[in-house]
Amino acid sequence: PAVGIVIVAAGSGTRLGHPEPKAFVVVGGRSLLERALEASFSLSEPASIVVVAPASHRAGAEEIAMRVAGAARDSVRVVVGGATRQQSVGAGLAALPEGTREVLIHDAARALQPVAVFERVVARIRADGVGVVPALPVVDTIARRAADDRVVEPVDRADLAVVQTPQGFPFPLYRAALASAAADHTDDMGVHRAAGQPVVVVEGDARGFKITTPWDLRRAEQLLGAERP
Ligand code: C5P
Repeated sequence: PAVGIVIVAAGSGTRLGHPEPKAFVVVGGRSLLERALEASFSLSEPASIVVVAPASHRAGAEEIAMRVAGAARDSVRVVVGGATRQQSVGAGLAALPEGTREVLIHDAARALQPVAVFERVVARIRADGVGVVPALPVVDTIARRAADDRVVEPVDRADLAVVQTPQGFPFPLYRAALASAAADHTDDMGVHRAAGQPVVVVEGDARGFKITTPWDLRRAEQLLGAERP
């Protein structure tokens, strides 16, 4: 397949307050990893999918991945992640087929991101050969603050974007960017930019919020409940 999707699920997710790693927490009857996989398998074209799992949960991730894949089990692999998100992404990229043209990197924690966002990212990479991130406008007033609580300056929110995943890149360019990354970045856009590569935004979706705190988990449960017939 032209498209490769790396689902990073190797974080511990301690802020969620659950004993198991975040990707294995269940919302509305299915784990976050299962939901992220379902979106990936719903793409309108075949994709090579790599799940990056914690070492402690490799077998559990395999079981979930195979169940969601069904007959397409050859298109999904599970690898073990690293100590940082960036290392986990590296492990995922290494497991993609050599001929992959576009790579999408997605947080399992953004389990409710609709597949339409994945499609938008792929289309824009193909159209322009650039890095692409889904983003939402900032609705709050934002201030830069100092350690002593002083407001240093208000920041014009029109200049800002809330960035989500999946973040997508031409595969060879992103692989090179990651190989040359000096610092540890919190997302892939940061890695691509640090290598001097252009990144553009496309429209994200409010459902693509990162499930981080117990409050987020409740919000996800309520959204799923509202979707039931
Ligand atoms: O910790 P953070 O919220 O930034 O994690 C974002 C995503 O990266 C999560 O889906 C998490 O499972 C993943 N991650 C990872 N390996 C790590 C840390 C985070 O795959 N070492």
